[in-house]
Amino acid sequence: MKKSCLEIVRQKCESCQGCALAKYRNNVVFADGNPSTARIVLIGEAPGEMEDECGRPFVGRAGQLLDEFLADAGISREEDVYMINTVKCRPPENRVPTDEEKSACHKFLVAQIDIIKPDAIILCGATALKSFVELDKKQTISKVRGKWMTVSVDGVEYKAMTIFHPSYLLRNHSMEEGSPRRLMQQDLAEIKNTILPDKVVSDDRELVLL
Ligand code: URA
Repeated sequence: MKKSCLEIVRQKCESCQGCALAKYRNNVVFADGNPSTARIVLIGEAPGEMEDECGRPFVGRAGQLLDEFLADAGISREEDVYMINTVKCRPPENRVPTDEEKSACHKFLVAQIDIIKPDAIILCGATALKSFVELDKKQTISKVRGKWMTVSVDGVEYKAMTIFHPSYLLRNHSMEEGSPRRLMQQDLAEIKNTILPDKVVSDDRELVLL
């Protein structure tokens, strides 16, 4: 049922000409994950070059790093997470999508969440967060990350947490206490323990970070 509803949205998305990004795309980057088992929707910013080439979100370096962190926390990308972006087409030069581009694509994001009905939404970085919450100038990602909040999507309230975007972690390698990478580990552990408490995580995992 979820798969067939998502298929209808995907087809609409693939023929969308709702903003200027449509003319640059090689592929619409609709989503990745198993809609039948995913209890978490993870929202990124926008497809990059590799995502545009193969039509799947989070497959470049940032995506590979995100995969490592998810696996380390005992969250399976294939089973537990449905990954999407605020816009489904790549902005030129990987720039941040404009408000107009995000608004044109918002209906697809809302439809995807409505169909999946996740137990939690992970907002990956500032662009994803700002698609749902107005930030005042003092509210930086460092201040809001790691805290459970409620976001309203089409009138339905969802539990949500903001985490660092993996591209930021690619530029910050430290694993010191309090470093962005350590905070990312803590945030994903909190999400795993709250949303997937019964999932057993093996002890012999090894975090191999890029
Ligand atoms: N790849 C994506 O699909 N989204 C991002 O936000 C970054 C890389």
